[in-house]
Amino acid sequence: MNPRTGTERNVLFGILSSTWIAQACYAVTKLGVPDLLAAGPRSATDLAKEVDADERALYRVLRALATAGLLTESAGRMFALRRHGELLRSDVPGSLRPNSLIYGEEVIRSFTEIMYTLRTGRPAFDKVHGTSFYAYLDEHPEIDQIFTSAQGVLEVPPALAACDLTGVATLVDIGGGDGALLAEILQAHQAMRGVLVDRPEVIRQAKHRLDGIGDRVEFIDADFFRFVPDNADAYVLSRVLHNWTDDKAAEILRTVRAAMPENGRLIILEDTVPDGGQDRSASLVDLLMLVMMEGYDRTEAEYHELLTTSGFRVTATHRAPGARGAVNVAIEAGRA
Ligand SMILES: C[S@@+](CC[C@H](N)C(=O)[O-])C[C@H]1O[C@@H](n2cnc3c(N)ncnc32)[C@H](O)[C@@H]1O
Repeated sequence: MNPRTGTERNVLFGILSSTWIAQACYAVTKLGVPDLLAAGPRSATDLAKEVDADERALYRVLRALATAGLLTESAGRMFALRRHGELLRSDVPGSLRPNSLIYGEEVIRSFTEIMYTLRTGRPAFDKVHGTSFYAYLDEHPEIDQIFTSAQGVLEVPPALAACDLTGVATLVDIGGGDGALLAEILQAHQAMRGVLVDRPEVIRQAKHRLDGIGDRVEFIDADFFRFVPDNADAYVLSRVLHNWTDDKAAEILRTVRAAMPENGRLIILEDTVPDGGQDRSASLVDLLMLVMMEGYDRTEAEYHELLTTSGFRVTATHRAPGARGAVNVAIEAGRA
């Protein structure tokens, strides 16, 4: 077949141009268009007035988003949200609005310097933004809030369901984000107390989210490289270790180990990269880690090794289908 025609060419063109659609999504989301369409269809003219956009430019962007399946267009340049487009609204469960905003700014800016990452192995984010990812979030609370909201809408790691938490009186969620996971655990275990450790801006958001659980949660803003509360029955590290190199991940694990009582339990929750296989979801997140921070997505065996070299003994591994098909694991460990 002629390589310059046919579906291969269309597929590749779709891949090469996918950032255009993502950026169009970002722009209309930032302008608040999906929220304005929540009550029903509106014309491009009307929307342009409300969001202070150039009418013809907005129409062309909305038309492109309609061809991508996010909107419908009807007579009179009227636009309405389709099911995927609904997820760009700010007020729907599982909203991807925060993702769209952060992908459209910090993430895309970092990807423009992917050559730097390829030459050096270092995150392009640091080159573009002049500092590391979490240090940048500390300096930009408004972006920190968006990032934390994006984490909060991720599903609670499914492999957690296989962990028996009976008899756990106190559980510490280290780097627990906005508290979605802790909230679910505490709902299911009414006698349990929870402790959430994270950075200051994140703790502020978590307090808001966990408002209803009140006196069963303690919030600690701390740097988990330096401090983890001691003497809890169980410690959870969910989607934390994949943000860090082996050296840094081991540093966190050693801090946890030093705080843990002799018979304490550590539960690691992560999406894993299959051994030698290919998984699109896990590889995409790993690509994000490569360009944005110094972490990477590991295989199950690599997590086991990390635990062993950090003074832990793996006691159980549970697997479940994770987000978009990745294998989500819960690895339970005690002090070696
Ligand atoms: C990828 S998010 C995971 C959030 C949550 N555990 C989850 O499963 O969705 C990593 C978390 O680690 C927190 N974090 C990063 N560096 C930290 C540090 N030095 N001390 C405490 N928390 C930190 C971030 O603020 C963020 O909430």
